Amino acid sequence: MKTRMIFVGPPGAGKGSQAKILSEMLNIPHISTGDMFRMHFKNNTPLGQLAKSYTDQGTLVPDSVTNEMVRDRFMQEDVKKGFILDGYPRNPSQADYLNELLSELGWSLDVVINVTSPDEIIIDRITGRRTCPVCGSIYHITNQPPKVDGICDKDGATLVQRKDDTKETVVKRLSVYHEETYPLIAYYKSAGLLVDINGNRDLKPITNDILEILGA
Ligand code: AP5
Ligand code: ZN
Repeated sequence: MKTRMIFVGPPGAGKGSQAKILSEMLNIPHISTGDMFRMHFKNNTPLGQLAKSYTDQGTLVPDSVTNEMVRDRFMQEDVKKGFILDGYPRNPSQADYLNELLSELGWSLDVVINVTSPDEIIIDRITGRRTCPVCGSIYHITNQPPKVDGICDKDGATLVQRKDDTKETVVKRLSVYHEETYPLIAYYKSAGLLVDINGNRDLKPITNDILEILGA
């Protein structure tokens, strides 16, 4: 089974939703740089303060900061089981850094899953997203509503909206995606690692397609 993977794709394509489902099903760590920055911010660390000035604007946190954070995470024991990288790498320079890190560890990537979705769908998905500040579960006000409005099904916490999920910031994040992240598609295609997945469907068939790609 393939266990070392990257999820790429525009904001709101459903990378995080799929990564969380698969991480639980397959017991492989989900490594989301966005979640890591939000955790730092919640804990009021210097890294969190620095990252927030970028995430709130929808621009990328500097590579040196992001790369170091990922390196630290890769030193943890659980990554030996494999990893689902979500939102990293986000430009070709981060991809080069990851290649070096993996070769230091004696590992290689198994697959890069490109979750696609048209821009109109993305704006609706992101502005309707609500997340649980306690367990990280992802909901959508109409597509994946919780059982009780505004409350997490798993732990009863009050759901929140991410500060960068306003329409204006989403437009900025999309343009950053097209300019800085999209070149990764060609990068990983030429490495023979890229598989496209149509993210504009229900969660379940997308998960099933990914499981098949992984040979799980
Ligand atoms: P990050 O947290 O990575 O955000 P993103 O890439 O913009 O991705 P999203 O989390 O918005 O979308 P997603 O694809 O995970 O969608 P989700 O599954 O939640 O990054 C945030 C910021 O951190 C960046 O802007 C940047 O500043 C910084 N950052 C992060 N990584 C960085 C890096 N490597 N370098 C530099 N800076 C970095 O789904 C979205 C919504 O749609 C949800 O409501 C969900 O319920 C719904 N939905 C999902 N799938 C479906 C479906 N199949 N059908 C219907 N609804 C669905
Ligand atoms: Zn919760």
